Amino acid sequence: MTIDLMERLALLERDGTEAIGAAEDAEAVERLRVELLGRKGRLTTILRELGQLPPEERPRIGAEANRVKELLSTRLDERKKQTSVAGREASAIDLTLPGRARWRGGIHPVTQVVEEICGIFETLGFARVSGPEVETVDYNFTKLNTPLDHPAADMHDTFYLADGIVLRTHTSPVQARVMEEWQPPIRVVVPGTVYRRDPFDASHAPAFDQIEGLAVDEGITFLDLKSTISEFARRFLGPGTRTRFRPSFFPFTEPSAEVDVSCQICVGAGCSACKRTGWMEIMGAGMVDPAVFEAVGYDPERYTGFAFGMGPARIAMQRFRIPDIRLLYENDMRFLEQFG
Ligand code: PHE
Repeated sequence: MTIDLMERLALLERDGTEAIGAAEDAEAVERLRVELLGRKGRLTTILRELGQLPPEERPRIGAEANRVKELLSTRLDERKKQTSVAGREASAIDLTLPGRARWRGGIHPVTQVVEEICGIFETLGFARVSGPEVETVDYNFTKLNTPLDHPAADMHDTFYLADGIVLRTHTSPVQARVMEEWQPPIRVVVPGTVYRRDPFDASHAPAFDQIEGLAVDEGITFLDLKSTISEFARRFLGPGTRTRFRPSFFPFTEPSAEVDVSCQICVGAGCSACKRTGWMEIMGAGMVDPAVFEAVGYDPERYTGFAFGMGPARIAMQRFRIPDIRLLYENDMRFLEQFG
C-alpha cells in the first residue's frame, strides 16, 4: 500500500511534468491543472487514500504528496506564462515587420533656404529684422511710391482686412518701417510671409515667403547692388555662378532690375528647368527711389541705397527640383520627410 502510493506519486510527477511541458497554450495548462491538482484530480485521489494508511505511514507520504503538489503547481504557473507570451506573439505581433524608428522633426525646405540666405547676408553685414503681416495701405503701398490705382493695390490682387488694412503683399513695407526707426547706415534682411489673391496652383500660393534686403548710406551705387548680389549668388549657389541684371520696373526702385543666375542644373547650356534659356530668375531689385526716401523723411540728395526682394520657395524649388509649389505648403509628411 505504501509503496503503491509512493509509486503513484512518482508517476504523477513524471506524467504531470511531461504533460505540462507539452501544453501548447494557456487553456491546455488550465485543463491540466484541473486534471492533476483539481478536486477530482489525480493528486486528490491519492490523498483520499492516505486516510486508509496506518497513522505512522501518513506523514512521510503526506510530505511527498505536498512536494509533488508544489512542484506541479509551480511548473503549471511557469508554463502558463510561457504559453501566453508565445500566444500573444503568434497572434498579434508580426515579427517580420520592420521596426518603428523614433519620429524626428526636421527643418522645412523653405526654412532651410531662408536660414541659409539670411546667414549669408548676415556675414555681409546685414542685420535680420521682421515686420507685421497685417499692414496698413500706407506702408504697403503709399510710402513705397505705389499709387492706389496700381494693379498691385487692386481688390482683386490683395486681401483687404478692413478699410486701409491689408495682409502685406510683399516684405517691402518693412523697408519704410526700418528707415523711419533707424538712421543710415542701414543694412537689413527681412524674411517673412506675404499674401496675394493668387490662385493656388503649381507656381502660385496665396501665402508665401519673401526675403527683403535694404542698404542705405551716403554714396551707395548700383555697383554695390551688383557686387553684393553677385557675391551672394556665388556663396549660395557656388563660386562659378554668374548673374545678370535685366531692366525692369518697381514703383519703389529706380532703376529697377530682375536678377537672373546661371541655371544650376545645366550650368547655362539650357534645359527644361530654365526653359532652355540657361538662366533662372531669383529676385527683383533696384536703387531705392528718391520718392521713398522723401516718404520716410530722408534727404534724397544725401542718401542713396539699394533694395531687393526674393522668393525662397521658388529658390527651394530650383534647389531641390520640386515641380509644384503646393507641395511646400500642404504639410504632407511623406514629402517633407525627404528634407530632414
Ligand atoms: N517687393 C517686390 C515684389 O514683391 C520685390 C522687390 C523688392 C523689388 C525690393 C525691388 C526691390 O515683387
